[in-house]
Amino acid sequence: MSNVQPILKWAGGKRKLAPLITKVVIEEIPTTKHYVEPFFGGGAVYFELYKNNLIKSAEINDIVPQLVNFYKTVSKTSEVEKIYSAIVNKLNYFNSLNQLEKRKKYFEYLRKSFNNIWSQDNTEFEKHSSPPDYLGLEESLKSSVLLYVINKTCFNGLFRVNSKGEFNVPLGSYEKVQIPNLNDLIYTSEALSKANIHFGDYERVLKKSLQKKDSFVYLDPPYVANSKTSDFTSYSKDKFKDTTNNEDSEHIRLAENFEFMVNSGAKIILSNHNNSKALSIFVEGKKNIFVYGIDVTKTIGRVKGSKNASSELLISSFEIASLKDKRID
Ligand SMILES: C[S@@+](CC[C@H](N)C(=O)[O-])C[C@H]1O[C@@H](n2cnc3c(N)ncnc32)[C@H](O)[C@@H]1O
Repeated sequence: MSNVQPILKWAGGKRKLAPLITKVVIEEIPTTKHYVEPFFGGGAVYFELYKNNLIKSAEINDIVPQLVNFYKTVSKTSEVEKIYSAIVNKLNYFNSLNQLEKRKKYFEYLRKSFNNIWSQDNTEFEKHSSPPDYLGLEESLKSSVLLYVINKTCFNGLFRVNSKGEFNVPLGSYEKVQIPNLNDLIYTSEALSKANIHFGDYERVLKKSLQKKDSFVYLDPPYVANSKTSDFTSYSKDKFKDTTNNEDSEHIRLAENFEFMVNSGAKIILSNHNNSKALSIFVEGKKNIFVYGIDVTKTIGRVKGSKNASSELLISSFEIASLKDKRID
């Protein structure tokens, strides 16, 4: 089995936690046949499960159209070589620029080209505007190449958009950006081709998962903030935020959906911060759940090279024997 890794950097990525979740699947729910990940992001858990030969069929979903389009395009194995050579051309050119001003100018040109593809003025976009097939193949290929390159060259690999949906992260500080390996891209493509890839709000994919026996659902939403300033929710222009006066309304909606899934007998795990607000929204007064506190080291969204340990919750609909020392309910 290939050593496939998440292809993009993504805020809240679960590379560190993925081996633990994989162990849980192997030990606690070995009959799993169908994997569902409604908040896919960089898909660290999916790729780890795939690497361990645990993906037989899957539904993956996210609310960021550019990201979903990227995965759908990269999953077309016949297009991978074309995508690869365009990525290598752009990264080699980026690496050849040794003045910061020139790099910045090139990065901004790439970012603008990417935003133009997704702008409402793009007539191609209009033609294919019904989700999830926003763009035709040529535009999808261009967008995917640009998304990969800006993800590797922007600040911390963040994907953040403004209220118009335009990607607005500045250039990061990199001496040389690593040139990917064609085989790695082929493995990623093969891994993604096992999944049905969806765009939109998580609820649809979540409820549908109840129709398939032996499903396992992993929910990794934007977290309840630890503090007012640490709340990164700007993945999409709609954000994971309230449209009402209640700033927690999206978390509460998710907690209700989670409770519904637990009571329907789903095998499901939800990640979140281990703080009093998350405990009050997702845990207090809820039945038939098992709650574990896990320490993980985070690197994204911080000053380069710095790390900090963060305590996270894993809230599960089934008991996890290997985590019994970490149980906090
Ligand atoms: C914490 S990240 C997931 C990270 C992922 N587990 C990884 O390993 O990279 C949360 C993801 O949820 C997506 N998201 C936010 N609101 C959503 C919604 N209402 N429905 C579906 N996805 C949503 C964001 O775009 C983001 O990619």
